[in-house]
Amino acid sequence: MSTGTMKKSHSQWSSRMGFMLAAAGSAVGLGNIWKFPYMAGEMGGSAFVLTYLLFMFMIGLPILVLEWLIGRRGQKNPIHTMEDVAVSEGRSKSWRWVGIIGVLGSFLILSFYSVIGGWATDYIALAAKGSFEGVTGEKTDQIFTDFLSNVNSLLTWHTVFMFATAFIVALGVGAGLERGCKIMMPGLGILLLVLVGYAAYASGPYFWVACKFLFSPNWLALNSTAILAALGHAFFSLSLGMGIMMAYGSYLGQDVNLLSTARTVVILDVVVAVLSGLAIFPLVFANGLQAGAGPGLIFVTLPIAFGNMTGGLVLGILFFIFLTFAALTSSISLLEPTVELLEERTPMGRKTATVVSSIIIWALGIACILSFNQWADVKLFDKNIFDLLDYLTSKIMLPVTGLGTIIFGAWMMNQKHIRNELNLSSSWFGIWSILTRFVIPVAVVTILIYGFL
Ligand code: PFF
Repeated sequence: MSTGTMKKSHSQWSSRMGFMLAAAGSAVGLGNIWKFPYMAGEMGGSAFVLTYLLFMFMIGLPILVLEWLIGRRGQKNPIHTMEDVAVSEGRSKSWRWVGIIGVLGSFLILSFYSVIGGWATDYIALAAKGSFEGVTGEKTDQIFTDFLSNVNSLLTWHTVFMFATAFIVALGVGAGLERGCKIMMPGLGILLLVLVGYAAYASGPYFWVACKFLFSPNWLALNSTAILAALGHAFFSLSLGMGIMMAYGSYLGQDVNLLSTARTVVILDVVVAVLSGLAIFPLVFANGLQAGAGPGLIFVTLPIAFGNMTGGLVLGILFFIFLTFAALTSSISLLEPTVELLEERTPMGRKTATVVSSIIIWALGIACILSFNQWADVKLFDKNIFDLLDYLTSKIMLPVTGLGTIIFGAWMMNQKHIRNELNLSSSWFGIWSILTRFVIPVAVVTILIYGFL
């Protein structure tokens, strides 16, 4: 295997637990707390939820395992990992494009992810100032509209959020990413349980209405839009197709069991999404609000509930701290592939690599911020900059990289080695092969085509 111009000895996670929390930290984020509930709300609740659960295990889990497995083989940044592993399997070096698109994707996503992370951070301050006390729907709408037109405040919070991300990443894999997640993830778990507990207590019978909304099968509501959205969200939610899990795998020792760790990460990710729904929907229903409010569900609808219930002030603060933490454990993972690449392939050390990439991403974030106000009319393909970046990354780059990874892992790599590495019995390996060789590629191509429609 070629070693290229790799400079330094490679970092490693200090324990399986640390790795698992970091991977779960990447997976659990705005996707679980902001996106999942509003998608479920818009797409008829349980039909979407149950389909999403199925896809997480059938499609997300195998790709997650393959990304880690390839990353662990390569022990480098995603681009050179793909190149080296391809060469060692006797394949073309061009497979590095899977890594290139992945790293570029995570880089671009972070530019707008950090802006939304900034919203979450600012909403902690708004909640603490009592801005939501006694508010009506019109008022929270007004707060949000004013907020989006205030460039200075958006910029300040985007900067704060990006700074926090860069600070953790600069500390390194063990002292930064791993330690950050070891502190934040348990905190997140506790906050989430408190939020669900309170929602159950404060909303009385509406808690069951929310449970029914999320879980009682309603297959009639299942249409192609919901199926495809659930599939796309399974990818986004597990941070797949962005080079991230491959980069995380590159810091992994041989002793870690990929399948059982992936199972735990998928379960944690799903549990956080579902519990977030159980923290949000009871309040939405108890206050007679709209479940299908769309992306504004958390920033416009939920504050109405916080502003009009006993203990809502504290609950609002806790909720937005929870959201900010979750966003932060994901944003650090979005920065990692670029930093790993620069650290390995340029004379820059980790700190300089982090500063340089963060400044460029931060600057791109400013373009996203302006697309909410002064540049709202700057459009390409009928989309403003924020929408364009979101579309390009989640609808195109993510499925393309995901498809590349799965085809590479299922068709280009030696399957016997994979079977040994995953320690699969022959019947489980049969299922694995059918999923990775046929079911998943067809599913991913479908998302890709759908993205263009
Ligand atoms: N998985 C994260 C979430 O659900 O919010 C977001 C995310 C992180 C998406 C990293 C993509 C990614 F590469």
